[in-house]
Amino acid sequence: MATYKRIVILTGAGLSAESGLSTFRDKGGIWAKHRIEDVATPAAFARDPESVLEFYNTRRKGARGVKPNAAHEALARLEADFPGDLTTVTQNIDPLHEKAGTKNLIHMHGEILKALCAHCGAKKPWEEDITIDQVCGACNKDGGMRPDVVWFGEMPYRMEEIYAALGRCDLFISIGTSGNVYPAAGFVAEARAAHAHTVELNLEPSEGISMFAEAIHGKATQVVPAYVDRLLNS
Ligand code: OAD
Repeated sequence: MATYKRIVILTGAGLSAESGLSTFRDKGGIWAKHRIEDVATPAAFARDPESVLEFYNTRRKGARGVKPNAAHEALARLEADFPGDLTTVTQNIDPLHEKAGTKNLIHMHGEILKALCAHCGAKKPWEEDITIDQVCGACNKDGGMRPDVVWFGEMPYRMEEIYAALGRCDLFISIGTSGNVYPAAGFVAEARAAHAHTVELNLEPSEGISMFAEAIHGKATQVVPAYVDRLLNS
């Protein structure tokens, strides 16, 4: 453990798969059932807000009852026991990292359990369905309430902080992500440029596999706790 002082962890849908949430690009995943351009772009929301809200209302219902799995718990344990700096950046919009106890967490693609007003930018925790006639409690306008999730064509959140953490990390761990979506898919290159050790923990080799110095393939609930134990005991 003494070898590392600053860790950045990037997580994706594969981390939450064993909690019962669908991934995007696996066989039968979310993007096999829905077209991105129909449900996950600002243009889709402008064209057909009901369908977009319905898609995320379904996902919000799914995210409400789920529990963190052994991999989320191991990552929270790593954060608690690691004496240096640790930043967790997730592409996931579910609340499972925080439910497991992770504190220094960046939801770069937003959070399904929050609503965002497209008119005034107000955000608030949101557990129920969002409807098209929902009035924003901050600006009193209707028609603008949407999930606080980042759509294709929008800028992910807190990128400056993320790049700063990548630029000073000495260990970068990518977990449960296929490496298809930028900017997250480019984080490994940033970490390499900072001379960090880079590790992929995923069910199968990702698109970015050639960029990683080390890779361990298997289910998150098996490989992540084992890797965390290895780090904490080294
Ligand atoms: P993907 O569905 O693209 O990739 C999930 C990865 O997890 C795949 O490489 C799987 O092999 C792996 N996987 C599946 N089950 C696993 C398990 N039990 N243990 C470990 N790995 C497992 O999901 P992401 O890479 O997260 O963005 O997708 C990135 C972004 O694309 C998402 O945040 C979302 C999506 O479009 C937006 O909606 C903006």
